[in-house]
Amino acid sequence: MPGLWQDAMDHAVTLARKAGEIVRDALQNDLKIMCKSSSVDLVTKTDQNVEQLIITSVKEKFPEHSFIGEESVAAGEPCVLTDNPTWIIDPVDGTTNFVHGYPFVAISIGFAVNKTLEFGVVYSCIEDKMYTARKGKGAFCNGQPLHVSDQKEINQSIIATEFGSNRDPEVVAKIFSSMRKILCLPVHGIRGVGSAAINMCLVASGCVEAYYEIGIHCWDMAAGAVIVSEAGGVLKDVEGGPLDLMSRRVVAANNEIIAERVIKEIEAFPAVRDDVPVNPTK
Ligand code: IPD
Ligand code: CA
Ligand code: CA
Ligand code: CA
Repeated sequence: MPGLWQDAMDHAVTLARKAGEIVRDALQNDLKIMCKSSSVDLVTKTDQNVEQLIITSVKEKFPEHSFIGEESVAAGEPCVLTDNPTWIIDPVDGTTNFVHGYPFVAISIGFAVNKTLEFGVVYSCIEDKMYTARKGKGAFCNGQPLHVSDQKEINQSIIATEFGSNRDPEVVAKIFSSMRKILCLPVHGIRGVGSAAINMCLVASGCVEAYYEIGIHCWDMAAGAVIVSEAGGVLKDVEGGPLDLMSRRVVAANNEIIAERVIKEIEAFPAVRDDVPVNPTK
């Protein structure tokens, strides 16, 4: 029986599929690549068009709802997550992949009410994998139920992380240092597909035990967080404690044991929160 927010979730799936077609088509044409805060922070006309398409369509259907969209948040302005039903949109997660034709690109749509995530939709559009999850109803990929890995040994795990787009030498050193410590545990491998949302869906699918990153945003992780938790996984801050969607840091793991083991090795660094004003060059 359809439940609360089912119509919104159905609409998110429809929009993600439509957006995926646009992204795939765009790969055949001139991508119109631009830089945002730095030379490694890329955006394309497609990122902007897809976000506009999603927001315009949602506004027509749900005029009372609010939005946080990566390409609509003005540089330096804080994102405000209120109690109002809010769509948290990353129109193209994996823009660098998209620009290079590296085949892991997703449309990520999370939905929160009273600051609690109600559903998540991640469409990995090159692979044609539609990941969906609604609070309390399980997680799915193309309609098949997902479950996290039952691995409890870190030394038999794959851990995913990303280098992000921060090129501050001190930050880069900490990222490498954490990866080195985790590799030396020794884990089976370190991976990262260049899309936070897909990394999280891989945790939910059971082929990656944990994913962590510092510096990502609420739109990178909102949808993936619901998918991981509905697949039986856990979400944490990189220094322990519960995930804070606005904190720009996440550990998504198959269970508490692996999460805590990974957290122990991470050299955390401060990331300016999504909900405070930020100097866009940082
Ligand atoms: C990025 C991707 C990448 C992660 C970055 C994100 P974008 O999102 O998710 O994997 O490392 O932190 O910003 O910019 O391609 O939407
Ligand atoms: Ca981006
Ligand atoms: Ca993203
Ligand atoms: Ca994006």
